[in-house]
Amino acid sequence: MLMRAVLFIIVFVVAFRSWADVAAVAMPDKWSAAAAEAVLLDGGNAVDAAIAASFVLAVTYPEAGNIGGGGFMTSVVDGEAAFLDFRERAPALAHRDMYLDEGGDFQQRMSIVGAKASGVPGTVAGMWAAHQRYGTLPWKRLLQPAIALAWEGFVVPDALALMAAEKVVEDAGETNFHQYFGSMRAGKPFKQPELATTLGLIAEDARAFYSGLPARQLVATMQASGGLISMQDLANYRAVWREPIRERWRDLEVVSAPPPSSGGFALVQLLKLREFADPHFRELWHNGAQYVHLLAELEKRVFADRAEYLGDPDFVDVPLPQLLSDDYLKRRAATVNPQAISAAETVAAGLESADTTHFSVLDGEGNAVSLTYTLNWEFGSGVVVSGAGYLLNNQMDDFSAKVGVPNKFGVIGNDRNAIEPGKRMLSSMTPTILLRDGQPALVLGTPGGSTIFTSVFQVILNVYDFSMPLEQAVDVLRFHHQLPAARLIRHDQREVPATTVAGLEALGYTVQANSWGNLGDVQAIAVNAGKVSAAADARGRGVARTVQIAAPKPPN
Ligand code: DON
Repeated sequence: MLMRAVLFIIVFVVAFRSWADVAAVAMPDKWSAAAAEAVLLDGGNAVDAAIAASFVLAVTYPEAGNIGGGGFMTSVVDGEAAFLDFRERAPALAHRDMYLDEGGDFQQRMSIVGAKASGVPGTVAGMWAAHQRYGTLPWKRLLQPAIALAWEGFVVPDALALMAAEKVVEDAGETNFHQYFGSMRAGKPFKQPELATTLGLIAEDARAFYSGLPARQLVATMQASGGLISMQDLANYRAVWREPIRERWRDLEVVSAPPPSSGGFALVQLLKLREFADPHFRELWHNGAQYVHLLAELEKRVFADRAEYLGDPDFVDVPLPQLLSDDYLKRRAATVNPQAISAAETVAAGLESADTTHFSVLDGEGNAVSLTYTLNWEFGSGVVVSGAGYLLNNQMDDFSAKVGVPNKFGVIGNDRNAIEPGKRMLSSMTPTILLRDGQPALVLGTPGGSTIFTSVFQVILNVYDFSMPLEQAVDVLRFHHQLPAARLIRHDQREVPATTVAGLEALGYTVQANSWGNLGDVQAIAVNAGKVSAAADARGRGVARTVQIAAPKPPN
């Protein structure tokens, strides 16, 4: 009886509610979900909710949420698509060979642990720029939930306590991480008074982060621990509005991240290659060996182009129109070998001549935000700004420290992504919004370094090729393939069908669980035939839900 009543109510609501009344949040944890929801119910728009969530995550999700890192925001507000780049920049004292030893070998630990690993942080400038352009609620109101959580504390989730304990071991006393986060215990409250003070100063005036007390604290920490970031670097930092990548795919428009991310380029290449290789894809089982092999063939080609052509567009020319053109991708798709692993030569660049976080928000007016930001690996460089209580990124490892030598994500690059003062390091982050008739149809993204755009790609195919409900599309097993490991297929740390493994091994692949854990933590919102759904990846500790903004409109 009860079930019937509940079912009836759901059907009634779905049938008679205009979707414009329904908002949704898909967040990496429950505190960010609650803060974003409260902002929406307070009359804020999707950008307001995103700003509040970003600052909350800097408190409750310190492995990736940040004010000491950077990221990207893709948005559609009042029908206007926009992209905000608040990626970190190399400090002025950075130089091309700064991570090479005397013998010319790349010393990766330097670009991962300690103060030299950090780029100039962009998150505060990014949130401020977003607020200046689109914010509707007062800036202070948006910082308030984060400030309260930092003062009052939050109960530490098991996964976070475990990661913090691992980071203490990894840093081995080289940073001050243990002094700030060594006392985190699962199930116990954790307070961050210094961070609360810093957030309070930012709430008063965001520019303080780049020229006031927090800036002086950052530079003092740098000077005490061999870092490069100066007051001048901070004063020079600007978040940049860039044209998002916008490409048609089937009856949808893909709006995604342009350089200095490789994410949007890679996603569009993958989607178009999928279309041009369509005859090979017909009648294939989801996640069967043949399907996974075909995805790997597409991914190989994308990674070859990524390594060759991508870099910061303020420093190098990225031939995007050619890389995304149908003619080029048709030719490229024609080289896919459905029977065998393509030889490395055929996947050379084709033109002639562990922790980030993502969230998605949809407000009741149909405005959408897809935001990915990061410290790079869990807890970034491990360096906490003394007195200011926040972690700094280790994003410098995303540069190509040496041509052809893989970074910690195993990807290679060339001079286009070499370290230069003021340059932004190449990213894979792919905050994406798919539009149908100009309205958000799918809002999604994920962490995962070089596996980000292959995860986003698979979720999109799960929705549109395999017609999976959103939650399933986000949840099912994912695979990843990248160069230069031309015969390696990686998968989530969960069971893979034995027939898939056997089929891939017969083709000559090695099939392995991904070394740093699951592939991504996707947060997605879909609007389908007026119905809004939201899904948080079961791989993480995310929370997703729809939010009823206004009373349902009576039927005409
Ligand atoms: O910008 C990038 O592509 C990387 N720094 C993102 C790092 C990341 O996703 C770590 N998460 N697992």
